[in-house]
Amino acid sequence: MNEPIIQFVDVHKSFTGANGSVHEVLKGVSFNIPPGRTTVIGGGSGQGKSVALKLILGLLQPDSGSIIVDGRDIAAMKARELNEVRADFGVLFQGVALFDSMTVFENVALPLREKTKLPAAEIRARVMESLAQFGLTGHEDKFPAQLSGGMQKRVGLARALQLQPRIMLFDEPTTGLDPARSLEIYRLFHKMQREMQYTSVIVSHDVPKIFNLADQVVVMHEGKAKVFSSSEEIQWSTDPVIQDFVQMTMGHIYQSRLERE
Ligand SMILES: Nc1ncnc2c1ncn2[C@@H]1O[C@H](COP(=O)(O)OP(=O)(O)OP(=O)(O)O)[C@@H](O)[C@H]1O
Ligand SMILES: [Mg+2]
Repeated sequence: MNEPIIQFVDVHKSFTGANGSVHEVLKGVSFNIPPGRTTVIGGGSGQGKSVALKLILGLLQPDSGSIIVDGRDIAAMKARELNEVRADFGVLFQGVALFDSMTVFENVALPLREKTKLPAAEIRARVMESLAQFGLTGHEDKFPAQLSGGMQKRVGLARALQLQPRIMLFDEPTTGLDPARSLEIYRLFHKMQREMQYTSVIVSHDVPKIFNLADQVVVMHEGKAKVFSSSEEIQWSTDPVIQDFVQMTMGHIYQSRLERE
């Protein structure tokens, strides 16, 4: 396999509470993320999934260990270098964070207007093309509040992809959608990933639903991460934690496979 694009090497991260109590969230987490593939990070609430994404973006610092992006340690970077690295990332977090006072068109055009010097006509052409790609033609003059939840997520994805990121980070991107809409959005992620070949890291509670769209799954539990490269591998794990996980979710995995066929 190719060199990993992101590596967690024995990462420890604790938070200190107001009363001085220390909460150890990551207790030596190591895993690799291969380039151009989809990695899903799963696990229960509070297991450190979002913390892991924030570490990748350099929004949090590890207490020890390293987070290597493209062979370089994020924690050791100065602000300017970090900004350069961040320019390679697209992010889509659960709130989507569309600007309510901007139309769909303006939301999607924003990164191009802010970060490139493209002429207005070129921006218009690109945005309209990408709206068409995401099934949003005819909705460009609407405001986010006038869209369904699924449409809002698609606008968010269209916007996140405008600068052609090499790495896309998603944190619970289907929150608030019903199961059918979630599956639709995950299929869209998968399709876009195939087309654009970016590295995709998706944090999700819905591991079963997207299991078959993932090239590997990282399960976070009690401060550690376990990596699996297939549903079979998870299914036959002898680890009691993973067995519990399988029991809770496996039925749905077969369901999602059926839906995919
Ligand atoms: N900035 C912070 N300060 C203090 N504690 C934090 C901070 N960020 C996260 N935590 C704690 O770290 C733990 C892991 O949080 P995290 O947000 O990564 O969970 P998660 O796995 O994403 O959960 P969920 O599935 O509910 O989103 C939680 O107990 C949380 O309270
Ligand atoms: Mg989270």
